[in-house]
Amino acid sequence: VAIRREDYTAPAYWIDSVELTFDLDPAKTRVLNRMTLRRNADVPAQPLRLHGEDLNLARVLVNGQGTSFKMDGGQLVLENLPEGTDAFALEIFTTCAPAKNTKLMGLYVSNDSFFTQCEAEGFRRITYFLDRPDVMASYSVTLRADKTQYPVLLSNGNLVDSGDLEDGRHFAKWVDPHKKPCYLFALVAGKLVAREQKIRTRAGTDHLLQVYVRPGDLGKTEHAMNSLMASIAWDEARFGLPLDLERFMIVATSDFNMGAMENKGLNIFNTKYVLASEATATDTDFANIESVVGHEYFHNWTGNRVTCRDWFQLSLKEGLTVFRDQEFSMDLAGSPSARAVKRIEDVRVLRTAQFPEDAGPMAHPVRPDSYVEINNFYTVTIYEKGSEVVRMQHNLVGRDGFAKGMKLYFERHDGQAVTCDDFVQAIADANPTSPLAQHLPQFKRWYSQAGTPRVHATGVYDAATRSYALTLSQSCPATPGQPTKEPFVIPVELGLLSASGTPLPLQQAGEAASGATSQVLVLTEASQTFTFTNLDAAPVPSLLRNFSAPVVLDIDYTDAELLTLLAHDTDAFNRWEAGQRLALRIAINSIAASAFPESATATSEPKILGTAFVEAMRAVLRNPALDAAFKELVLTLPSETYIAEQLDVVDPQRIHAVREAMRTELALALRADWEWAWEQHQNTGGYRPDSVSAGRRALSGMALNMLCIAAKTTGDAVWPGKAYQRFKDAGNMTDRFNALTALVASGHDLAAPALARFHTLFKDEPLVIDKWFALQAGAPDRGGNILPIVRQLMQHPDFSLKNPNRARSVIFSYCNANPGAFHRQDAGGYVFWSERVIELDAINPQVAARLARALDRWKKLADPWRTAAREAIARVAAREGLSNDVREVVNRALSE
Ligand code: ARG
Ligand code: ZN
Repeated sequence: VAIRREDYTAPAYWIDSVELTFDLDPAKTRVLNRMTLRRNADVPAQPLRLHGEDLNLARVLVNGQGTSFKMDGGQLVLENLPEGTDAFALEIFTTCAPAKNTKLMGLYVSNDSFFTQCEAEGFRRITYFLDRPDVMASYSVTLRADKTQYPVLLSNGNLVDSGDLEDGRHFAKWVDPHKKPCYLFALVAGKLVAREQKIRTRAGTDHLLQVYVRPGDLGKTEHAMNSLMASIAWDEARFGLPLDLERFMIVATSDFNMGAMENKGLNIFNTKYVLASEATATDTDFANIESVVGHEYFHNWTGNRVTCRDWFQLSLKEGLTVFRDQEFSMDLAGSPSARAVKRIEDVRVLRTAQFPEDAGPMAHPVRPDSYVEINNFYTVTIYEKGSEVVRMQHNLVGRDGFAKGMKLYFERHDGQAVTCDDFVQAIADANPTSPLAQHLPQFKRWYSQAGTPRVHATGVYDAATRSYALTLSQSCPATPGQPTKEPFVIPVELGLLSASGTPLPLQQAGEAASGATSQVLVLTEASQTFTFTNLDAAPVPSLLRNFSAPVVLDIDYTDAELLTLLAHDTDAFNRWEAGQRLALRIAINSIAASAFPESATATSEPKILGTAFVEAMRAVLRNPALDAAFKELVLTLPSETYIAEQLDVVDPQRIHAVREAMRTELALALRADWEWAWEQHQNTGGYRPDSVSAGRRALSGMALNMLCIAAKTTGDAVWPGKAYQRFKDAGNMTDRFNALTALVASGHDLAAPALARFHTLFKDEPLVIDKWFALQAGAPDRGGNILPIVRQLMQHPDFSLKNPNRARSVIFSYCNANPGAFHRQDAGGYVFWSERVIELDAINPQVAARLARALDRWKKLADPWRTAAREAIARVAAREGLSNDVREVVNRALSE
């Protein structure tokens, strides 16, 4: 049954305080829940309905007395509560079985320790409660457990008491000074150790920071701690938001459904986003840790101090917090070009994951109108598109205006559970003359309308008036339940370049010249024309600079114009974008061509890429003014998924073959330049995960990869040999893994011994073994070899379906991230997919539902894939006893 946003009503009762006592036992944990409640006088008197799931109920007392109650579809219903609005006491005693909890929602056991995950609706798996975010209570929590097995006992807030009990047990009592919704509750118990750091903030307050991990992992916590300290300093400096707790704890667990969770004062993280050492983690891991630690910390204000009224408002906290973590990473990166690199990476995620979501069966607005299972709505639309919607607000009111808006938001709503409307209203009210305030109701369509808008741009230069008329038109495709769309407010940042690439001063008709060479046009109508004067010749427009809005920009550039932008645009994002457009155009033409391009030889011309593109890429690679990280992005061809999104009918094998052929040509044509890049970008000295040296590793890694690909055609043994050497000798995981990837991706004979050696070296490092699995399941397909490898990997003693990271490393790397191998002519990939969805669903519905989405875009596929995909989805849908999670995904995929 679907839950609808319009059905929201305030809770019939408030819960003011909660006193929880846990007797922790993996098989049977006892939970005593003593609450103080009162009726909400604003709503009609009605029974109290408490949520519960997989609980054994032992006792219910109202004001200390036994009471009548009934069960109604999992809910505990109390009809004979005291009348009036006075507070009353409710005591509920239940038990649950954490060791059997494979869903990893509520209270569960991982590696003999206890953890919780309550967002969105996991608290009801711990005790009966009003499990909704607008019910905020004060918590005090007593944990009791065996002292040797569970020496560390943690919950939210401050430790107020602890001591020994009989029978080798002990206890700890925690009191959270802040009211919170139950989804922010957490407890942890186990054999853990902590890295500790005392800090004094700018405001002069003292705090204790702790990062808890399993005993052997303490050496891998420095980067997480540094990231936490940087996050605290950044939020204070940029937004004036201080740490409001004496103690802030991060705990890592290797069994976790998502990335991490912002429980008040007690963040719980997937180990993947905490543990890092140069020997075991790549630069990407280091960067992800920084951003996820930041993300969860920033939730302390955007999410915890001000929370969501209901789960339809999820993007209120997630979109805003992603925006904040993106800005944090950009500010730490420092240089303008390092900021651009981060921006490009974020946009790449948006385009390869969110745009397809917005065009597929699971499309939903940033503020959805309905859902069956809320866990299915922790999506790239809520997170990444939500962040873009906040970013547009930021751009429409300016950096200082946005800070003012945030200040007003907290003045108005601190301690409340509010809506997306409340947020954008505060930003607009703090900036009353901004275009955001002027177009507020229309701007809010970004929250209510799903689908990716398209902006079509055409320019006409008139020599007689020396003016350039730029017409921007917008449209948005229909999405499920939304056949027609109203125009959006679209900020389009623009610059104009001369044909030789010089930035031109912008002067709109009827306005004074400002001297600016970049400006934001605000598109509000279906179509609007902006006229620029004082131009000696037709300019080259640079539109949607820095990706100023989450739209698809249609514009008919000539190759020459794209080459000009790639070589000269002052906007680094659009420089990269011009290169991507050129590559995409080449890919699409080649895919459409009836004849398949002959395979390249060591000396042949780059037949698919053409000389102009190759020379442009060479110029970027050799350009001394550009950063290595930026070069690596420009030289990376658009992904198969992104190419597929541009086509109406998708032949995944042809896309794969064309992209591989393009890569081989680029590898061969630039061989001398790749050698130069490899030599020139070796880091000397110790490893540091900063963006400059990471960029050098990324580019030299790419060069090595390209040289190994070229070696496949030329028969050269030198570069694969060097790759193996580097693999063996590398002083850090980034270089080592890049070298291993070069061998695996080029299918060289040395790949097998390297993989074997890698496993031996890292057999005791689960996160590294995840990489080992993922690399093999995600490797380029050669004659259908990957599926049998994947089936074999699942038989490996290190494989486990119950551990989400491990399951993802094999199954998702194959089904979601390896289209060339997954979309087999014989449908074997789809059969494998349906088996795994069903198998996983019995263990962990959330993980299964993510996997279920691998075939979201089946309707775009050409036959035989289309028919085979539909059959595979139908096979899953035909299963009885599917979870709500998977049921919602497959039903949507098959609808209309
Ligand atoms: N709020 C968490 C974050 O953004 C995500 C938790 C999602 N958990 C879930 N079971 N759906 O970091
Ligand atoms: Zn979040």
